[in-house]
Amino acid sequence: MSNSLFRKKSLANIISDANAGVSDGHGTKGLDKVLGVRDLTLMGIAAVIGAGIFSTIGQAAYDGGPGVIFLFLITAITCGFTALCYAEFASRVPVAGSAYTYSYVTFGELTAWIIGWALILEYSIGNIVVAISWSSYFNNVLEGMNIHLPEWMITDYKTAQHTYEAALAANQSTEGLAWTTAPMLGNWHVVLNIPAFIIVILITILAYIGIRESKKSANFMVGLKIVVLLAVIAVGVFYINTDNWVPFTPNGFSGIMKGVSAVFFAYIGFDAISTTAEECGNPQRDMPRGMIYSLLICTIIYIVVTLVITGMVHYGEFSNVKDPLAFVFEKINMTKIGYIVSVSAVIAATSVILVFQIGQPRIWMSMSRDGLLPKRFAKVHPKYQTPSFSTVVTGFIVAVPSLFIESGIVTDLTSIGTLFAFVLVCGGVLLLPKIEHKDGKRFNLPYINGRFIVPVLLAAFTYFFWNKIVDNFSHLTQDSHQEILFIVFLVLAYIITLVTILRNLSVIPVLGMLCCLYLMIEIPVKSWFVFFGWMGFGLVIYFLYGFRNSRLAQRQAQA
Ligand code: ALA
Repeated sequence: MSNSLFRKKSLANIISDANAGVSDGHGTKGLDKVLGVRDLTLMGIAAVIGAGIFSTIGQAAYDGGPGVIFLFLITAITCGFTALCYAEFASRVPVAGSAYTYSYVTFGELTAWIIGWALILEYSIGNIVVAISWSSYFNNVLEGMNIHLPEWMITDYKTAQHTYEAALAANQSTEGLAWTTAPMLGNWHVVLNIPAFIIVILITILAYIGIRESKKSANFMVGLKIVVLLAVIAVGVFYINTDNWVPFTPNGFSGIMKGVSAVFFAYIGFDAISTTAEECGNPQRDMPRGMIYSLLICTIIYIVVTLVITGMVHYGEFSNVKDPLAFVFEKINMTKIGYIVSVSAVIAATSVILVFQIGQPRIWMSMSRDGLLPKRFAKVHPKYQTPSFSTVVTGFIVAVPSLFIESGIVTDLTSIGTLFAFVLVCGGVLLLPKIEHKDGKRFNLPYINGRFIVPVLLAAFTYFFWNKIVDNFSHLTQDSHQEILFIVFLVLAYIITLVTILRNLSVIPVLGMLCCLYLMIEIPVKSWFVFFGWMGFGLVIYFLYGFRNSRLAQRQAQA
């Protein structure tokens, strides 16, 4: 049994499966190869810049002050290490499927399934957050045109209920609130986020129709959102009051780290382009470049935008602000610019939804080719050459919850699931056989021996965090879940460092793993419970279906 769980696909197998398309009689010609390095970079930016910078960054700036830019830097470095590992995999395994496919080669089937399941959190659950943010900015845009949608149509049930209860508690009027104006179905207040639902359906149709159409739309939207963000910077820079940057880190390191989930969410997506490897002309050369270029561009934009907005408005005013970029301009009475920002936020979020709606079906397609999901998930549309069934399923999985769910709950879950996938991608690179491509046409992850660098960094970490370490050990109670997470991290960090010294492991993937693990333990423990629940559910499905239907198992049995 345990051997079966860790059965691995060989690189040769993976590539021949992909080349054969879906070779079980329900397949077709395979995917359309139209993407180059420019498209991939733009697609990366399309997936990255969205709800994170336009919405969730508000609260992170409030908690961390202007110093939240350090969190952007830490996260960028973490994502940078991971992007390099993704790039190494992409140059070795140039087929769709992303981290899922990569871990099938290195860790074996069970881990591959676990990663594939975690990636649903990144792509589908993450898209719910983006759709909700889209809806809120879209409403701003409509308000600017004097069109007022009823409140019950643009929010979720829980938020409507909380707002109502908060108004009651504060003795404020409840008139016009979603809760009081919602139609009733028996005892149920019909509160549904209709615009979020509709945008997901529309984008799903686009993703279904074809990668060419999706590519053109993504490129157009990326161009527009970058222009608007640059304009925000160019105008905002004249309204910076440097007094707002003092103090720079009002709540210290712990205040900054409160924003981990939001800031990390803002970076999610650069890896989504790895799901389109089979639609790429030269994935081994272009995929790594696309990922790294998009990450670099986004990091620069994020840091500058954060500096500008926290310079324009004091960080203390960002509490619960869901549209920080529009908010800062409204604060200085430049409502027109605030309006343009809202329009651009709608476009930015649209492009994120598009890329993720393209990414998720391609992961399912790979899982289905391997027999871990039913065959229909791998079906490629004969005319549009897209994974049609998977695309439709993704549409429903994202659209329906967007109607009901509160975004905060799913942001944490998305970040934790994605970081988990990143840890395994970095770890997987360490298990790849060492090959150096000398033809100059493929990416090579630089090998730097970590045996000295990693222990020095761990010693520095221990030194700077000494007080926290002592605190965590001395205040352990039954409820200290966050402290326990920290201690688990510390133990893992020491073990990984020891293995690095003994085995001369490469520094980039090791640091990638450690940084991702650290960001994970900063996410509130209640989201960890949901995460474990989700992963447990995934395991049940694997043992009921994938384990028995695995193509690799059948192949091995025949052999
Ligand atoms: N990074 C993407 C966003 O911020 C998920 O919307």
